Amino acid sequence: MAEKTLKELVEELIQKEEALLAGGGPKAIEKRHRQGKTTARERIDFLMDEGSFEEVDLFVKHRASRFGLAEKNLPADGVVTGFGTIDGRLVFIYSQDFTVLGGSLGEMHAQKICKIMDMAAKVGAPVLGINDSGGARIQEGIDSLSGYGKIFWRNTLNSGVIPQIAIIDGPCAGGAVYSPALMDFIFMIEGASKMFVTGPQVVKAATGEEVSAEELGGAQTHARRSGVAHFVAPDEKGCLLQVKRLLSYLPSNNTEDPPWLETDDPLDRENTSFYSIISPHPNKPYDVKKIIQEILDRESFLEVQEQFARNAVVGFGRIGGQVVGIVANQPYHLAGCLDIDAADKIARFVRFCDCFNIPLVTLVDVPGFLPGTNQEFGGIIRHGAKMLFAYSEATVPKITLILRKAYGGAYLAMCSRDLGADLVLAWPTAEIAVMGAEGAVNIVFRKEIENAIDPVSEREKVLGEYRQEFYNPYQAAQRGLVDQVIDPKVSRLKIARALEVFWSKRETGKGKKHGNFPV
Ligand code: HXC
Repeated sequence: MAEKTLKELVEELIQKEEALLAGGGPKAIEKRHRQGKTTARERIDFLMDEGSFEEVDLFVKHRASRFGLAEKNLPADGVVTGFGTIDGRLVFIYSQDFTVLGGSLGEMHAQKICKIMDMAAKVGAPVLGINDSGGARIQEGIDSLSGYGKIFWRNTLNSGVIPQIAIIDGPCAGGAVYSPALMDFIFMIEGASKMFVTGPQVVKAATGEEVSAEELGGAQTHARRSGVAHFVAPDEKGCLLQVKRLLSYLPSNNTEDPPWLETDDPLDRENTSFYSIISPHPNKPYDVKKIIQEILDRESFLEVQEQFARNAVVGFGRIGGQVVGIVANQPYHLAGCLDIDAADKIARFVRFCDCFNIPLVTLVDVPGFLPGTNQEFGGIIRHGAKMLFAYSEATVPKITLILRKAYGGAYLAMCSRDLGADLVLAWPTAEIAVMGAEGAVNIVFRKEIENAIDPVSEREKVLGEYRQEFYNPYQAAQRGLVDQVIDPKVSRLKIARALEVFWSKRETGKGKKHGNFPV
């Protein structure tokens, strides 16, 4: 047989590529489109800068033979992997192709994902994973499970080195959920995403509970109840745009600083609206997000886990173009108390910021930890400890502003001076005390009140004395636990200056393997 010319070889290559790029074939793709779904490649095209995507391992083929797999042609083994740019910055990506055996994960499918995770770690660039899969490829047995194990191992070792982002754009069930769970952020889409360790049928068989897939593992469930999802979008495009926005706040790896963005919002913009937002009445709620938005560069706030543990607010923003992580109590919900979920939410966010050189700005208005048997039985002790650990361990610049209440252990937990805050600011409305006046006088002056001729007026008297003594920032300022008491209207400027000063802060680790983070 005559040797093929180069032109013929290239034509052959193109034909092979075309067959593989068609995934599960035109019928399967058409079916997806009819269902209002997109393909693995369409998702990548939408996300990446035009023409920047380079696919690797298009020719990878499974080597399983049992249960009829030998005869099955599985283009690209059901996952598209490669690298390219988003807004000009390098990212690595994998996107599971549901049209190929339900995007199920076998040995080679996993190997492809591992390869791009290794490449990303080598060069220091984020990994994005678009999950749309029936889970472990049943026919490949232990090889599928081993594939997941290899991914989990890399998720863990790459944690804190490169940002890892999971997009759930279809089913993600069984042990498969643990790769997204080991990543930094999970995005879910209303109606399309489903995540659960055991699906509705197994739940019914095991416990008798009847629950729909949506209720068990849909976007709202994980955004509001479980806290598994960090971002939720009404549709796929909205979700992918959110991913791009998140990336704009993140450095590519732990050795870089987050991207700086030019702003025309002056640092000395006065925040006079604070006079009307905060009420001098200590029990009147207000929306802390208004304060956050006013301090940050205009329109720069990106809230994380918006619907979960709404008594705490966390998210990214910019001050003078520099990325910061914001943590705040939200007096609108549970009066801003810390509880199990809020502690988990804050601790994880603080750790993320610390991994990736994002300074922390903490806004405090906290009456304490939420009381109750639910909280105690649920382990508020170990959950609350996560916050103490995360803040104490964080070496990024830590700036704290006390707005109003800062009581007890919750005061300490909200990045107090003693947990290593670099600069603590307080408004004149700050109340820094072991506990609120009502509770305190019942303990300290119980006998005096009981024995008084007029217990009611005696109680009022000691309440007044207590408030006079502790409901201000000055006792803490006398001890140097508050560095500056400031006029609220200069909050933005003062925080910006503090960030500038402590930007060059250098702290080294304690030369140990790692601490024993409370979980
Ligand atoms: C092999 C699979 C598969 C799987 C789906 N397919 N899941 N093949 N292994 N895990 C195949 C189907 O046989 C079908 O092939 C094609 O993908 C499309 O699937 P359909 O069922 O037709 O699609 P749909 O009706 O949309 O339902 C999607 C689904 C369902 C809900 C995801 O397929 C399903 O329940 N799959 C099994 C889910 C599961 O229990 N996975 C194992 C979880 S345990 P054909 O050839 O007909 O097109 C797990 C352990 C991980 O993952 C452990 C890690 C530590």
